[in-house]
Amino acid sequence: MTPPAVETTTDADRIQALFNRIAPVYDRLNDWLSFGQHRIWKLMTVKWSHASPGDICLDLCCGSGDLAQLLGERVGQTGQVFGVDFSSAQLEIARQRGENHYPPLPIQWIEADALNLPFANNFFDAATMGYGLRNVTDIPRSLQELHRVLKPGATAAILDFHRPSNPTIQAIQQWILQTIVVPVATANGLQEEYAYILPSLEKFPQGPEQIRLAQQAGFAQATHYPISGGIMGVLVVTKRHS
Ligand SMILES: C[S@@+](CC[C@H](N)C(=O)[O-])C[C@H]1O[C@@H](n2cnc3c(N)ncnc32)[C@H](O)[C@@H]1O
Repeated sequence: MTPPAVETTTDADRIQALFNRIAPVYDRLNDWLSFGQHRIWKLMTVKWSHASPGDICLDLCCGSGDLAQLLGERVGQTGQVFGVDFSSAQLEIARQRGENHYPPLPIQWIEADALNLPFANNFFDAATMGYGLRNVTDIPRSLQELHRVLKPGATAAILDFHRPSNPTIQAIQQWILQTIVVPVATANGLQEEYAYILPSLEKFPQGPEQIRLAQQAGFAQATHYPISGGIMGVLVVTKRHS
């Protein structure tokens, strides 16, 4: 006898559905909620990835594509960027963003899972990831996949929220999330979607733990840079030269 089909909703399904739902307002909310600062943090991330003109680059968990676009501007017409995300709604916005850019940027948008990347080993010269590591369901696996697809000696820069070590700044961060971010999101009908930031941040490994996970994934060098008083951080990882 065939067992009845069991419908299971995994954490990954829920995260995918969440980012599909928030796609239409995602960019606008990021600008409001970070007072435009996320643009500066993303520029720093591209710089720290060491992406150069002519490089083949990866932007993992690219969402609506702004970081991939910055990478595209950096590598220029002789380079190539692959923006990867598993949310089709976010990728659709990324595509539209790309259509408005002149001259067109060398970016391909790929719907795929960061935990199982559709690329050969040792393929990329550099990579970025913005606010993706906190959202994947398996951080060690995602770092292993990133390590696998980077060329020997290549660097990736991973930007995300961080819990500041200074208790006053930590209290300010919590206050901003609870009294500005969630109410603004609620006003846009997205209370549930943005209320998840604080709990996800509480579970997210701190800088030293991120370094340990990167080393376990095989990276020869890993450094975590707290930025903006430690409310954000960039993990910079480099694969061993062969
Ligand atoms: C907070 S958004 C960040 C988007 C963009 N990088 C930015 O900096 O604004 C996180 C993105 O990660 C994507 N994501 C989460 N888990 C993923 C996975 N396993 N594979 C691919 N994309 C994933 C979500 O769909 C979402 O677009």
